[in-house]
Amino acid sequence: MNVQTREQEYFFPKDRLLVSKTDNRGIIMYANEAFITIAGYKEEELIGKPHNLVRHPDMPKMIFKMLWSRLNAGSEINAYVKNRCKDGGYYWVLANVTPSRDVSGKTIGFHSTRRNPSAEALAVIKPLYAQLLDAERSGGITRSEALLERILEEKGVGYEEFVVSL
Ligand SMILES: Cc1cc2nc3c(=O)[nH]c(=O)nc-3n(C[C@H](O)[C@H](O)[C@H](O)COP(=O)(O)O)c2cc1C
Repeated sequence: MNVQTREQEYFFPKDRLLVSKTDNRGIIMYANEAFITIAGYKEEELIGKPHNLVRHPDMPKMIFKMLWSRLNAGSEINAYVKNRCKDGGYYWVLANVTPSRDVSGKTIGFHSTRRNPSAEALAVIKPLYAQLLDAERSGGITRSEALLERILEEKGVGYEEFVVSL
């Protein structure tokens, strides 16, 4: 996808949570006021659209592959995400994405709650994502997955442990 970006970072208050809910395929069903405001879209431009509407091209593909594989396995995932605003600017979040279930336990969609990431965490994540993106450009997703695996192995931690430790 060829999308326009620009070097304009946006921030949101530390006590604000950016929330969205999707159906099983990642179609946006709900977005809270804070999410709508920073994304720069009107509510009706978001609802009914695939969530990759806010995807930033600086995000490694493997992060989303991992997100979907964990969600489809019934697990939650925490991930740092750089999102694109309607005007091409961006903002960073730490997202907690979980399956939403009905009373019978069937997954009926997904829920993302995004908070403000710390500067210390982003100082680790930005160069890591740049490396993963480079790996993807030269060797596809297989190479970025192998790279992340090697980096985590060297640190002796699993992905989730790594993310929450930052
Ligand atoms: C509940 C939920 C929230 C999501 N939030 C975002 C998000 O904020 N930004 C984003 O780029 N992708 C988000 N995604 C992932 C997108 O569905 C999509 O996989 C991703 O943007 C990559 O798009 P692509 O597969 O077309 O490359 C979310 C998915 C779910 C289920």
